[in-house]
Amino acid sequence: MANKPFLTDIKTLRERARRHIEQGAITEGYSADRETVIKVLNEALATEIVCVLRYRRHYFMASGINAESVAAEFLQHSNEEQGHADQIAQRIVQLGGQPNFDPEGLLTRSHAEYVEGETLTEMIKEDLVAERIAIDSYRDIIQYLGNDDPTTRRMMETILAVEEEHADDLVSLLNEMGN
Ligand SMILES: [Fe+2]
Ligand SMILES: [Fe+2]
Repeated sequence: MANKPFLTDIKTLRERARRHIEQGAITEGYSADRETVIKVLNEALATEIVCVLRYRRHYFMASGINAESVAAEFLQHSNEEQGHADQIAQRIVQLGGQPNFDPEGLLTRSHAEYVEGETLTEMIKEDLVAERIAIDSYRDIIQYLGNDDPTTRRMMETILAVEEEHADDLVSLLNEMGN
């Protein structure tokens, strides 16, 4: 361990940094498959947008059935999913890609589904299912990224933690409602 050299010597680091400066944050040391990372992030972006829309719908519908605390939770989740969508879109641009906001094919790109639900309980259950899909797919993405793109991985880890909180909130709501 004592003789272990630093990963790259300073001269090489400095020379490499001067090449392809137009690629900005993407340096030669970036070892992930950029195209795949962008594609996977666009799927996560679609997932977030679908979740924004579903929670938004649930917020307005729940407001009508006298369930203010549940509606408030839906609105908060919707806004947080929008924040995730923005973070992911920003990272796609940083990686030299283009965030896909095309409504066409949105549901195909998204991992989670858009289910309206009739009753308050159905809405909460559908949101919980969607969160659980997001949790599993984001965990997969994190594992895929490994040490090849720590910045994207850290972002996805932060988002994953919030999705887990969302799922936990929804279970609590179901319990409060006696389901
Ligand atoms: Fe999210
Ligand atoms: Fe969520």
